Amino acid sequence: ASTSETDARYRYACEIARAAASRAYSWYQQRQKLVVEHKRDLQDVVSEADRNVEDLIKTLIAERYPDDAVIGEESGGNTQGATYVWVVDPIDGTACFINGLHNWCVSLAVLCEGEAVIGVVCDPNHQELFHARQGQGAWMNETRIHAHNAQHLNEGLLGLSNSSRVPSESVTSLITGLTAQGGMFIRIGSGALTSAWAAAGRLIGYYEAHMNPWDSLPGIVLMREAGGVTNDYLRNDGLKKGNPVLLANAAIYQQIKALVDNSALLD
Ligand code: IPD
Ligand code: CA
Ligand code: CA
Ligand code: CA
Repeated sequence: ASTSETDARYRYACEIARAAASRAYSWYQQRQKLVVEHKRDLQDVVSEADRNVEDLIKTLIAERYPDDAVIGEESGGNTQGATYVWVVDPIDGTACFINGLHNWCVSLAVLCEGEAVIGVVCDPNHQELFHARQGQGAWMNETRIHAHNAQHLNEGLLGLSNSSRVPSESVTSLITGLTAQGGMFIRIGSGALTSAWAAAGRLIGYYEAHMNPWDSLPGIVLMREAGGVTNDYLRNDGLKKGNPVLLANAAIYQQIKALVDNSALLD
């Protein structure tokens, strides 16, 4: 795959994320009318807005790149040996979205030959588009962003989340260790947006014991391009099954890793 093909997809991914975020925002303004369904459990929600925005994203990708593969949270998909694979979460933070909380975003990543090369997170409530392309830095709108420069856990907020996919100890044990060192955590309800905030240096990092690729990959590209480090998320079939995620600058990465009980998973 050529550099110019990836560059073209980078521009288009930003365009799609803006269009999808604008569509999602229209739904958000009429959220009282949305029919909400449950998936795995009562905390795992989906609405017609999620499906409609995913359809829009898939249509836009297929219009310009019919040979690219797309994996979406709501409609699945497979990679079928495609050179480029788009990984899409139409609304990350659905529980916030349906309850009128502003912490949600559109989350998009693109893999080229199995490697995550583009990450885009669009937050229409704050008109913030976080975007990164491998080798070209990370940005919030037109401004270059950088990971936090904290050297110790007590120098800022750590983004954390958990889901019913993992035992609650995976987060509670980390909180115990973190707070014992004077650290502090925040859970905003959208893993993709929290990761983007970490890449922008608003948080000292992000950890979640299991993330799906449509939530994790944009933040991974953003954090690497923002000068931080990440675990090898795609290992052991991560694209299909998900994996733990840890994003931070190098010093904080080591300190969080030491606190995570199953840190072997992060290598
Ligand atoms: C969820 C959110 C949440 C994270 C979960 C995700 P959804 O995504 O990002 O913060 O902890 O792992 O599944 O269901 O709102 O798209
Ligand atoms: Ca979901
Ligand atoms: Ca999600
Ligand atoms: Ca979602």
